[in-house]
Amino acid sequence: MNSLTRHLKKSIELIEKDCLKNKDLDLWKLGFHLMPPIGWLNDPNGLCFFKGEYHIFFQYSPFNPNGELKFWGHYKSKDLINWEYLGVPIIPDQTFDCHGAYSGSTLVEDEKMYIYYTGNVKHSGENYNYITNGRGSNTILAISENGIDINSKKCILTNDDYPKNLTCHVRDPKVWKEDNQYYMVLGARTQEDKGIILLYNSTDKVNWSFKNIIESKEKLGYMWECPDLFKLDNKTILVFSPQGIDPYGYKYQNVYQSGYYILEGDFKSHNYTLNEFSELDRGFDFYAPQTFLDNKNRRILIGWLGLPDCQVFYTNKTIQDGWQHALTIPRVLKIIDGKLYQQPIDELKNLRKDKLEITSNKEYLINSSFELLIENISENIEIILEKDIFIEYDYKNKLFTLKFNSENLGAGRTSRSVLLNDCNTIQMFVDYSSIEIFINNGEEVFSTRFYPEQKNINLKINSNNSNNTLWQLNNFFIK
Ligand code: FRU
Repeated sequence: MNSLTRHLKKSIELIEKDCLKNKDLDLWKLGFHLMPPIGWLNDPNGLCFFKGEYHIFFQYSPFNPNGELKFWGHYKSKDLINWEYLGVPIIPDQTFDCHGAYSGSTLVEDEKMYIYYTGNVKHSGENYNYITNGRGSNTILAISENGIDINSKKCILTNDDYPKNLTCHVRDPKVWKEDNQYYMVLGARTQEDKGIILLYNSTDKVNWSFKNIIESKEKLGYMWECPDLFKLDNKTILVFSPQGIDPYGYKYQNVYQSGYYILEGDFKSHNYTLNEFSELDRGFDFYAPQTFLDNKNRRILIGWLGLPDCQVFYTNKTIQDGWQHALTIPRVLKIIDGKLYQQPIDELKNLRKDKLEITSNKEYLINSSFELLIENISENIEIILEKDIFIEYDYKNKLFTLKFNSENLGAGRTSRSVLLNDCNTIQMFVDYSSIEIFINNGEEVFSTRFYPEQKNINLKINSNNSNNTLWQLNNFFIK
């Protein structure tokens, strides 16, 4: 480590000092979500289970709550409840990653972490547009033996190694092993402004050959970010985050989307088809999800509880407190009736403390974060938070809606809906300034931030015959 890198690490440690400890002083800090100690967080990165522990890395700009130069931050945990913050293992300190250590993934093998990420480089020059010229998108391999320190960083692919018809936007390697080979998917933008995925393969994790392009027949946006390809219940799922899709009915309402295709056929050849694209989350704050397999063979997804470039529509009031964004709670993926379901990870039940039966049509004041489970819904239902946020299912119109009435509480967030044939259960996690809603055991999910004026949350459920249970929740323990 040279002295500049050492200095950067030290400065970050200094500005982070006590941030996680003084969590409770800040009205909007989250109790059971991973946040940046200070500054800005975006994509989850390098998710893996390594030597008995979960490792969660994330895109991190400690010096600026509005995001800037990207580092990787790092948390680990044995049980997804008690966490340890481990600082910044990846620092953009090389010529091949000097304008940001962008997103990537971890492959665990031989008791080592093989971390693949994108080294972003912006060349200086006046006439660059940084789309078709002026940008280097390098694929970097970083190796860690102990899961904490990085022992080596090596540039293994540059723009010259990618197919010729691409812009400079190629990034976010996701790597996995299958049939004694290694595969890598990368998100890309073509010269014709079409989002696609590049597939590479390797036999030694270091030398990679271009193998295939995975793309939709009809264009779906100009850029596909953060690809992830995996098998689940005998289906091949392709998750990614497309940019540049126009709103259509209740769909694609956010500035950028995240969703999946079920891929039929063989993704290693031209012999595949992509079925209909489905969004993974219908709320205001969700992007760039990544999945991994844990030791219980669960396919776990974590997303960014936020979005880039949405500040013209809505904002996050935490910027005034020097930080912005968080990761979602982990969700276990399942295929049910050909559709991807997302269910909150079971470990969150260990956060439950006092249990309250909530009578419908009556107001409550809840003085902590909470989980609310509403079962046996068979008529219209309305859940009202802070007399202002309406979460409702309209049986006649088969419409589920999350709606902010005043501009203040949602900081500009308005209304999002999904058409849904039925609504039997709603499970909600409310964590001081975030709400995650799982409908019908994860058939649809809505995630959003909100900014109440106090920690006590006013709650009312208007319904005739549902069973309502609420658990007040403990916070994560972070050391
Ligand atoms: C997605 C993304 C990735 C990129 C990273 C940079 O939010 O744009 O494509 O690697 O963020 O922080």
